[in-house]
Amino acid sequence: MLTDATLNQPLDDEALRVAIVAGLERARARSAALTDAVDDPDLVRQHSPLMSPLVWDLAHIGNQEELWLLRDVGGRDPILPETVDRLYDAFRYPRADRPALPLLDPAESRRYVAQVRGRVVDLLERTPLNGRRLLDQGFVFGMIVQHEQQHAETMLATHQLRLGAPVLDAPPPPVPAPGAARALPSEVLVPGGPFTMGTSAEPWALDNERPAHRADVAPFWIDTFPVTNGDYRAFVADGGYDDARWWSAAGWAHRQAEGLVAPQFWLRDGDGWARRRFGRVEPLPDDEPVVHVCWYEADAYARWAGRRLPTEAEWEKAARWDPATGRSRRYPWGDDDPDPGRANLGQRHLRPAAVGAYPSGSSPLGVHQLIGDVWEWTSSTFTGYPGFEAWPYREYSEVFFGDTYRVLRGGSFGADAAACRGTFRNWDHPVRRQIFAGFRCARDAAPGESPTPGSP
Ligand SMILES: [Fe+2]
Repeated sequence: MLTDATLNQPLDDEALRVAIVAGLERARARSAALTDAVDDPDLVRQHSPLMSPLVWDLAHIGNQEELWLLRDVGGRDPILPETVDRLYDAFRYPRADRPALPLLDPAESRRYVAQVRGRVVDLLERTPLNGRRLLDQGFVFGMIVQHEQQHAETMLATHQLRLGAPVLDAPPPPVPAPGAARALPSEVLVPGGPFTMGTSAEPWALDNERPAHRADVAPFWIDTFPVTNGDYRAFVADGGYDDARWWSAAGWAHRQAEGLVAPQFWLRDGDGWARRRFGRVEPLPDDEPVVHVCWYEADAYARWAGRRLPTEAEWEKAARWDPATGRSRRYPWGDDDPDPGRANLGQRHLRPAAVGAYPSGSSPLGVHQLIGDVWEWTSSTFTGYPGFEAWPYREYSEVFFGDTYRVLRGGSFGADAAACRGTFRNWDHPVRRQIFAGFRCARDAAPGESPTPGSP
């Protein structure tokens, strides 16, 4: 039997409105915390050519909210001259060019996003959440919540690139019980056979997660935990960056051109390594998942370790498939929304948690920390599922399909629960390192090593 995850209870309009307002407010609290943490000159400065000035992200968040909710759904007139829309169109100007644009200044940006939000809350009260596909179960409001949360994660990456005194702080993540990770097997066998990948039931799922469909995988082993700093340190110490055997041709060329010798933000500290994290230099914690590695580095590490990256389908089967029922869950632990005891999400801790810190977040097969901590690179390129339909606009996903991007899964400590679930797909260039990305490894199961392929 192949069945999609079912939702707990379809919400009535009033409960949906409460959930939407809570989602909008949580997203705005993050945007505000990340932009209020620095002064105005810092907000308009470009901290890296890879990133927009923070003030661009802020006004862009408000502009998307205005375009979709006030102008499309509400039929309202523009708040600002329509030329402003062009400045905040992510497809018109690359990030590197944005600082030179006549952007709204910090005060104007804050005023604008507050004005938009006030009118959106007003509109939500009088808009029936059905009758139009865009509004069904509050989808377009959910899309805007996810959009702002995705930019909050992008802004957090800008903070990581920013030089200068630290301005962000958060409590440390939970600490695993002593020896908890070592007590578990290092890898888990996932039986081959079909499972349900993607979703047709999740109301706020984006077009690239749809529809639910049957995917088949051969039996494979997957790491119980993401690869840690300690694991990765061994690859570095073994000369992994100087040995072309471990790298793909494109990866080796990139490693040479960029002079890569270790993950981004690692710093030499005598014979060992330290790291810079949001402006603080600290000892490199061996038991935390490695972060800030590009796809090429993850791929090279896996080859050095005699392993490989999982495909996207393998990752999702390990995360969602329940062998007892044959059903795919919303999350590894079940269908309940994430909570702080199960996953490190939402910028609550501003760092990955040590492996073993979330035993109650593990999958039925015993794979840990699939959700939260670090995005996980997969070997797969970004494509549409069978039956894919671009919606509500091609630029959300479809224009990125092809061989250019690799898929990342599972979300990071910087991602919010609103924009992270078992089916959620992220994608980026294989050279990107400023994102909060790590990985785990997999390998084919040998014949006879696996239970008979096929679902129960
Ligand atoms: Fe955007």
